[in-house]
Amino acid sequence: MIETSEDHSPSERPGVKAVKLQEIGDLNLERAKTNLEEFDRVLGGGIVPDSIILIGGEPGVGKSTLLLEISGILSRQKKSVLYFSGEESAGQIKTRADRLGVDTDYVFLLNMGNLEDLKAAVEEIKPSFLIIDSIQTIHSGKSSMMSGSISALRYVTSQIIEFAKGNHITVFIIGHITKEGQLAGPKTLEHMVDAVLYFQGELKTDLRILRAEKNRFGPVNELGIFQMTARGLESVQDPSAVFLQPRKNADSGIATFPTISGLRAILIEIQALVAESPFTGNPRRISVGFDQYRMSMLISIVEKKLKLPFYKSDVFLNITGGFTIKETAADLAIITALISSYKNFTVPHDTIIIGEVGLTGEVRPVSFIENRIKEAMRQGFKRFIVPEAQSDIKHLKDIAISPVGNIYDLYSQIKQTGASK
Ligand SMILES: Nc1ncnc2c1ncn2[C@@H]1O[C@H](COP(=O)(O)OP(=O)(O)OP(=O)(O)O)[C@@H](O)[C@H]1O
Ligand SMILES: [Mg+2]
Repeated sequence: MIETSEDHSPSERPGVKAVKLQEIGDLNLERAKTNLEEFDRVLGGGIVPDSIILIGGEPGVGKSTLLLEISGILSRQKKSVLYFSGEESAGQIKTRADRLGVDTDYVFLLNMGNLEDLKAAVEEIKPSFLIIDSIQTIHSGKSSMMSGSISALRYVTSQIIEFAKGNHITVFIIGHITKEGQLAGPKTLEHMVDAVLYFQGELKTDLRILRAEKNRFGPVNELGIFQMTARGLESVQDPSAVFLQPRKNADSGIATFPTISGLRAILIEIQALVAESPFTGNPRRISVGFDQYRMSMLISIVEKKLKLPFYKSDVFLNITGGFTIKETAADLAIITALISSYKNFTVPHDTIIIGEVGLTGEVRPVSFIENRIKEAMRQGFKRFIVPEAQSDIKHLKDIAISPVGNIYDLYSQIKQTGASK
């Protein structure tokens, strides 16, 4: 049927009309501080009232722990929290709350139940905060959509957002993520909310990293670093000290790099393993915590410029502590770790390597070089391999700066200093 101008359907909400932007009152953007320092940091300084925050993470990483802890903190501030759990029994949640020692005076629990039960509970309790653990476990009794389907997930989320915004409730939504690291369900869930946080960590270690993938009210480059303890998640005060394990042996394949995360520099360890490949003609290239394509590009630069053939070798790259590096400033340190493993050179313990590498093997300047160097100095590092263009850091005392213009310079530097093992 062809639509005509008379054909429009009546408004679902007759009161809705456009208003002048000028006439709209200011939003109360005063953030609620949790004083769980690392959590506030990721959100850009605290929780923005009435915002909707999605938290994704792999099973067991600590999503429920984090949000139960936050519930306790808010409760201590006399703010009411409604915690919906569709995954665990009331007894399990109580046991966790007792273990974490959280304040529960203002925390209400809705165990299991559907969207309609949730709406009824919100109307009765009128909480300031709502926690959904998890979005995949809440269904609508009214909707005929298959529960767990993408459209059902979107429907439930949009319903929650609608009644939360209407009632001035701040919402945290927990979402499971798939093996590929995406929120299970549609990417569009991410578009519907104000902030998307990812909670990551190697489950074998107790370090956990919270990062913002999207934030309508703050920057997305800050990381929150926590330690999982029996008493819950604690903010890590000195991340560099945690990420750098004391090295007992002089091992090859290790380089230290100060990465920039938001406003601070954090020292991390880059590890490479270059080993003879059993798969002739098809060696493995595996990278954890760094872009695989960029790693392949860096390998090709080393092969071409330094005539070090990697084609017979498997290459594994690992950024320790479950950290992900997205900055190109780490290129030179990665190349150093690769060469160090390949040639069995040891990079001296007290050396830091910083620089971006271009396709011709030239070493390019990086941002915030002074912040990086100062953080490394604080941790006791004394020698710095830096881009030639940025070697003029005369006012920094008691350190040795080795400028490199290209990867030939780097190679001769590490050949000289790294005792062959
Ligand atoms: N007694 C304890 N001491 C220290 N850590 C503990 C203890 N009990 C649980 N944990 C930690 O808590 C983690 C589980 O946390 P939590 O249940 O909050 O994760 P989750 O992300 O909500 O998982 P799921 O996706 O299964 O709901 C465990 O992997 C473990 O690291
Ligand atoms: Mg959970």
